[in-house]
Amino acid sequence: MTFTQKDIISIRDFSKKDILEILKLAEKMEPIARSMEICQVLEGKLLGNLFYEPSTRTRLSFEAAMQRLGGGVIGFAEAGVSSATKGENLTDTVRIVGEYTDALVIRHNMEGTARFVADEVDVPVINAGDGAGQHPTQTLLDLYTMQRILGKIDDLHVALVGDLKYGRTVHSLAYALGMFGVKMSFISPVELRMPREVLHDLSNSGIYVNETEDINEVLDYVDVLYVTRIQKERFPDPAEYAKIKGAYLINSKLLQGSKAIVMHPLPRVDEISHDVDNSPYGKYFQQAFYGVPVRMAILKKLIK
Ligand code: NCD
Repeated sequence: MTFTQKDIISIRDFSKKDILEILKLAEKMEPIARSMEICQVLEGKLLGNLFYEPSTRTRLSFEAAMQRLGGGVIGFAEAGVSSATKGENLTDTVRIVGEYTDALVIRHNMEGTARFVADEVDVPVINAGDGAGQHPTQTLLDLYTMQRILGKIDDLHVALVGDLKYGRTVHSLAYALGMFGVKMSFISPVELRMPREVLHDLSNSGIYVNETEDINEVLDYVDVLYVTRIQKERFPDPAEYAKIKGAYLINSKLLQGSKAIVMHPLPRVDEISHDVDNSPYGKYFQQAFYGVPVRMAILKKLIK
């Protein structure tokens, strides 16, 4: 696809070829992301960062990406400092910021918000997470991490672990891995299983998925353990969260003898022990860094 001026709302808007094109450009961006080369290709351009939900990595890596390419960033990190607190509706806010900028990044707690915003503004809109919906740019950096560390994406066996119900990163990632014909295991408490519609879509595309509660079943053969946080803020009933929290704990002892690398979109709460951080298994800090070159590639492709 031609990326210029396109919105990035769902990973399902991409083909495998589109994804590989972004990953290829991301690799070229790495020396610039590491400040070993200078690039001003987006000089004079402005990105609008509209974060209605908390964020550290996504927001800051978009900022770093834009500035590394010579562009500027405006926006807010929480709705509390925007005119939303005065009663301004979302449509008015995005219409205005869309006029000020060349592209918008939006994170919101309501599923479908990014799609709605994309219909309201002329500049490209990037979904940085819409409730329990999707998080497509996280998926691109997740795929990039697998490719950089394991040398490939095709033919891997990836286990998605934790909150598969409310976790938006795993929804996007499952669809993308499906495009690459990756074997998948979904490991979660029964209450937090992958939504039926995602399973249905995958099986319609002939994708093999194994669902279980027991992580020990897959440790011998998976290449990647993609661990996620239980999404406390999305539980309608705090008592339900209290029952499930701490369902999985990944530590060095558990991983002994496994060939798997451990990835996590972060933030982690208590699902990965700190003894994994500097072990050969722990790759989540490297993964977080890759957010910068991947988002540089996305911005370079989208902004006219
Ligand atoms: C994730 C998110 O916001 O969905 N964080 C991120 O962008 N790296 C994961 C999470 O909050 O658990």
